[in-house]
Parts: sequence; structure tokens; C-alpha cells
Amino acid sequence: MQEAFFSFELPTRILFGVGALGNLRLECDTHGWKSALIVTDSGVRQAGLLERLTAQLEGLDYAVYDGILPNPTVQCIEGAVALAQGRDVLIALGGGSVLDSAKALNAVKTHGGSVLHYEGNDAVPGPCGPLVAIPTTAGTGSEVTFIAMVTVPERQQKLPLVSRYLAPTLAIVDPELTRTLPPSVTAHTGLDALTHAVETLVSVSAQPIADLLALQAIKLITQYLPMAVKEGENMEARANLSYAALTAGIAFSNGWTGMAHALAHALGGLYDLPHGLCCALALPATMEFNLETQRAKYEQIAQALGAASAQEGIARVRELMREVGVPMRLRDVGVPESDLDKITELALADGTILFNPRQPSAEELRALVQKVF
Ligand SMILES: [Fe+2]
Repeated sequence: MQEAFFSFELPTRILFGVGALGNLRLECDTHGWKSALIVTDSGVRQAGLLERLTAQLEGLDYAVYDGILPNPTVQCIEGAVALAQGRDVLIALGGGSVLDSAKALNAVKTHGGSVLHYEGNDAVPGPCGPLVAIPTTAGTGSEVTFIAMVTVPERQQKLPLVSRYLAPTLAIVDPELTRTLPPSVTAHTGLDALTHAVETLVSVSAQPIADLLALQAIKLITQYLPMAVKEGENMEARANLSYAALTAGIAFSNGWTGMAHALAHALGGLYDLPHGLCCALALPATMEFNLETQRAKYEQIAQALGAASAQEGIARVRELMREVGVPMRLRDVGVPESDLDKITELALADGTILFNPRQPSAEELRALVQKVF
């Protein structure tokens, strides 16, 4: 029997399965949503996914905002505020950037002010309006999390909005929507989900239900990510990855992430690189740094990765990265060595580092970043 105190929360209702998107209209009718703003980006539109969604909304009063950028800025999110006002529901269709943007937009639509009013922990004063999150990638878990990351280019920083009130009302997770994702995006987003799962397990807020979900997610990502990268149309692989990303998202909302995410936020803010790629670059070195503090947990993680020891588990993560073709070093993605101090400083100031099981000194973190360089 588990003795430690913990709390576990999942405010979002989930519809999961190939074809789940087909339930959207029924959901709108059931809830009495007669007007909607669809929040998306140009890539989703070009991939033809927006059409599949709007095909269901005949007779409803809807508008589309497709101005969300990767690593979304406050400005691109606030560009949707006027369109959102007075609409019954926001429907977010896209990857983590789009879903996070819609969550931040929903706070502004409901409570007024600007996006940065809601920066930090629990700054959203109460429940927000209805939000349907429909992911088109398998990684971020944003469809169920309480967090939205926004980028402030003037500060070269990614900032978090964290509140249970940001969690979408409904997540429609349809793996079919990920069928045409290019291999690199599949790899990056899958490794983001892996990082969520690994970091949650060793976090200072780790808890047993989140652990179960995270371990299962690691097993599925190990098994299916290389398959989905090599054969994008393999729906068994796609469905398992969508499920793994979802469960890793539920897990990390309750257990939180750690130092790999602190570094990823620093790298994403400075160089506008894909979030999942930044996580992957930081993950193995973070695991090495934490190993002795959480050896038993890293043994469980290794088992889920199909490795025999905690050390081999870390090697397995590197192998997985190579297998799916992502770069292994910061220099490979254009990070200049002269920026190592800046990266260290930003990562140390990032709130997620507080949940890491071992707190690094500035020197230790700089040495770690140097090692990944
Ligand atoms: Fe992440």
C-alpha cells in the first residue's frame, strides 16, 4: 500500500481513437456550442487537417485563426483575442504550440488583460470558457496539461502559464491526424513525450499514479517511435504514440518535469528550435547527473526502455535518438559555444528545475551544458 500523500487531477474529458475527430459535431451540439473560433497554424491548414474539422461544422458560426507560430509569441496569440470574443468555444487544432496558445488565449478571452497577466503559477483567477484541444502531433500532451509555454522574443525567453484552469475541457485525440507528420517532427515530439515520462518519474513531486502512466508511456515510445519515424503510415505505431504522449502528459501534469525541460526552455527561447529536439539534447546528460539521487527509479525507467541497468537505460536513450535521426550535440544544431553561460543562467532561472531531484550549482550545470556541446 502506498503510504505517501499525493494528489492526482485530470480535469479534461478525453475522447481517444482513430476517427475520434468524427465526434466533434456531436460534442458541440450536446454542449450547445453554436459559435466557435478555431485556433490553428498554417502548416495544419496546408496538411488538409483543418478542412476535415470544418467539414463537421456546417451550420455553426465559426471563424479560423491560423496565425500561431512555432514557439508561439505573446503577439501571435493576442492576434486572436478580438476574433475569440463572444464565441461559445475555442477549438484548438495543432501541435503543442497551437494548443498552448489556445489555452493562453482562453485565459485572456475569459478573464481579460493580456497573456503575460497569467504568467507563473496559479495566476488564472478562475475557470475559463470551453476549450476543445485536438492534437495533430504525438508528444506535447498539451491536450491534458495545465501549462502553456509562451515566448517573449524581446527577452529571448519561454515563460510558463501554469494553472489547472488552463486544462482543456475536452481532448479529442485522433491518431489519424498524425499520419502525415514528417519523420523529424515525429521524432522530436516523441522524444518530448519520453522526456515528460522520464522526468516525471524522478521528479521531487513524483507520485504513484503518474509513475504508472509514465512507465507505460516509456515502454510504448521505445517500441513504437522508431517504427512511426520509418513508416509514417503505420497506424498501430501512430496510435500507440498518441496514447503514450497523452498518458505522459497526464503524468507530468501531476508529477512535473525537471532539468531537461529547464534546459529545453532555455534553448527554445534563445534559438527558436523545436521543443522536443531541445528536450532530447538535454535528456541523457540530465539522467546521468540525477542518477545517484534516484537510482531505483532509473532502474525502473531502464526496464521500461528494455535495458538491464540504470546506466544502460541512459545508453538506450542515446541509441533511440540515433535510431530516429536526431542530432546528439548542441553544436550540431547551431548553438555557439560562447552562449554556454547564457544557457546555464536561463535554465537555472526556469521554474521546472526546482522539481529536478538534484539541484545543480551554476558550475555543475555549466559543466553539463559543456558536455552536451
Ligand atoms: Fe515538453
